[in-house]
Amino acid sequence: MSKKFYITTPLYYVNAPAHIGHSYTTIAADTLARFMRSRIGGENVWFLTGTDEHGQKIQKAADLENLSPLEFADKMVLKFKNLWKDLNISYNDFIRTTEKRHETCVQKILEILFQKQDIYESKYEGWYCTPCESFWTESQVQEDFICPDCKRTVERIAENNYFFKLKNYQEWLINYIQTNQDFVRPQFRHNEVLSFLKLNKLTDLCISRPRERLNWGISLPFSPGHVTYVWFDALINYISAVGEFDDKGKYHSKWWPADVQLIGKDILRQHAIYWPIMLKALDIELPRTVFAHGWWLIGDTKMSKSRGNVVSPIDISERFGVDTYRYFLLRDVPFGLDGNFSEEAIIKRINSDLANDLGNLVYRTLTMVEKYYQGKIPEGNAPIADSGIKIKERINTLVSEVESCLKPSADLNFSASLEKIWELINMANKYVEQTKPWNLAKESKTEELKSFIRLLVDVLRTVSDGIYPFMPHTAESIKDQFGKDKIKKGEPLFPRIQ
Ligand code: MSP
Repeated sequence: MSKKFYITTPLYYVNAPAHIGHSYTTIAADTLARFMRSRIGGENVWFLTGTDEHGQKIQKAADLENLSPLEFADKMVLKFKNLWKDLNISYNDFIRTTEKRHETCVQKILEILFQKQDIYESKYEGWYCTPCESFWTESQVQEDFICPDCKRTVERIAENNYFFKLKNYQEWLINYIQTNQDFVRPQFRHNEVLSFLKLNKLTDLCISRPRERLNWGISLPFSPGHVTYVWFDALINYISAVGEFDDKGKYHSKWWPADVQLIGKDILRQHAIYWPIMLKALDIELPRTVFAHGWWLIGDTKMSKSRGNVVSPIDISERFGVDTYRYFLLRDVPFGLDGNFSEEAIIKRINSDLANDLGNLVYRTLTMVEKYYQGKIPEGNAPIADSGIKIKERINTLVSEVESCLKPSADLNFSASLEKIWELINMANKYVEQTKPWNLAKESKTEELKSFIRLLVDVLRTVSDGIYPFMPHTAESIKDQFGKDKIKKGEPLFPRIQ
């Protein structure tokens, strides 16, 4: 296992508050960061998130509120930070693309690439979608002149711009992706990117916008009349936050390359094509894994502000609890696939997995320690039945089982790792029903009873460690309730919901 672990989320646009889809990426990253801290030590893990603050979208949102873009962004950043605090997100650094450290790095990169002639000036004539800030070709907009992405009307423009030579790197990238199976995950996204690259010729990426059209961005050092295209600017955050260029144009960082870069599937092209080419052109190592997860849908449509169907993570976590919300997102859908969001689905998970399985095991174990041993956790080494031996074995292997599900090569399968933990919980619940501790007590089988209850406590301590990255509060509460040698019974963890 690598000695350090650097994980990133995308930078969220500040034009609107975060919805469930945004919180999904961040919660997943937080869970991996917490897991890795417990494996390799907190000082070896770096978790970066932040906000994407330039470009048309933000300019427009600020205009609507009669604020400058920066004033507007300042206000929105507070909302993001508060949300991450409420959701117990343990990021190490929060980068804003309006920070000096970022701007300096972006300009340095532009200079290096311009010197190398990987960036060149050219006239652009074609179709442009202002809300998406994207250029389109004649065939892409078809006869009705509609943006293929957002379906709004495009406009004809002709202007001087700067372009990044993606074209030159296409063969190299195909080869790189082919020889580095873990670079784009899950597997089906790897295949998708490869076949896209094999079937389509890349066109060079326009990385500037003339100031007359868009003023809110980072100036091109070699052409102050242009600002940097928001995507070219934003991608750089992953390195601007954790390192610097020296005078010779060489990049140095304690953390880079990132071990895992989490993104949603809608921004795969930028992260699996533009980004590696930018790094290659700068002679910087590529991230080990770019992982694209699926979308949260409402009915059949993506949850998004423009579709007006967003659900607020604040509302949901206030109603059902932060840990329940985190659990639901990572358990209900295998990471990588789309999922349907509904309150019924959350309630189902609460009543079965959380109240019935976990909550019940905690409650009945506490009750037995209280009833038979006045709250003192017993020691016990009497021989136990086969099912008890199996449980002991699972206790010993649980961490490595969870770990193998969470590897990039296993597609960061959070949901499978939770299933492994729940298998142990369910084995323990069955064990209680089979062993019938009340009979052991009646028959004065004191040693058996002690060993039996002790094993349940060991299960719960293991489960608490296992769920910690997913549900930090719940894990701590279980740990507290099963103190060093005495229990401290708390409120039921997950009351059932009717
Ligand atoms: N600012 C860019 C990213 C720049 S990274 C250098 C951006 N921002 S975003 O705010 O629009 O989206 C951020 C992330 O949220 C993306 O990974 C996106 O996939 C994710 N989600 C937005 N809506 C989503 C769902 N409905 N479901 C799951 N995730 C989705 O793109």
